[in-house]
Amino acid sequence: MIEPSEPLLEEDVAPDPVVQFGRWFDLAAEGLPDPEAMMVSTADHLGRPSSRMVLLKSWGRDGFVFFTNFDSRKGHELDANPHAALLFHWEPIARQVRIEGPVVRTDDATSDEYFASRPRGSQIGAHASHQSRPVSSRRELDERVASLTAEYEGRPVPRPPWWGGERIVPERFEFWQQRTDRLHDRLVYLPAGDGWSIQRLQP
Ligand SMILES: Cc1cc2nc3c(=O)[nH]c(=O)nc-3n(C[C@H](O)[C@H](O)[C@H](O)COP(=O)(O)O)c2cc1C
Repeated sequence: MIEPSEPLLEEDVAPDPVVQFGRWFDLAAEGLPDPEAMMVSTADHLGRPSSRMVLLKSWGRDGFVFFTNFDSRKGHELDANPHAALLFHWEPIARQVRIEGPVVRTDDATSDEYFASRPRGSQIGAHASHQSRPVSSRRELDERVASLTAEYEGRPVPRPPWWGGERIVPERFEFWQQRTDRLHDRLVYLPAGDGWSIQRLQP
């Protein structure tokens, strides 16, 4: 358990929020098995939100990427409304990060490369699961897995065309650090010129 003993001050944080994210991510990685687990919230065409956990697979100035089934609920919501909010809560270090922005799919080469790096069972699973659709029973799913395993025996499993990366291009970051008496620190980064402005919010 790392105590949030230090205040979060404007003069101490990195001017680039991606660099600041990296500092906290590294800190979280010291105390958590899965610091890359994040909530992603999307909204449908009427603005009705939905959230679920996914895994952050890459991140940098060009965006924050997770991989999924484009034909899933989140995939359809992103088709209708290509914006998302990401949330990391790293409880052992008493910090949360919020990231918001438009979403674009990763290019085919990036999705292919990541898909090829996955365990074979996960590759078969991506073919077998019509994510977010009803299925009559566990047995039906298991039978589909067995049949696909036989079909791809002895050859590479290709990436399904409906599966790939979603990249959130950040337009807003908030770094939140727990402090005593609920007087938490909150610093928001917004695009300003070629860089970012930093604004403190009340807790
Ligand atoms: C820790 C954790 C990590 C997950 N990672 C992913 C992921 O990277 N991609 C994914 O599609 N689903 C992931 N899931 C499953 C999703 O939470 C969700 O059940 C699934 O994507 C279907 O969501 P949807 O119906 O809203 O599209 C993860 C679940 C958990 C609990």
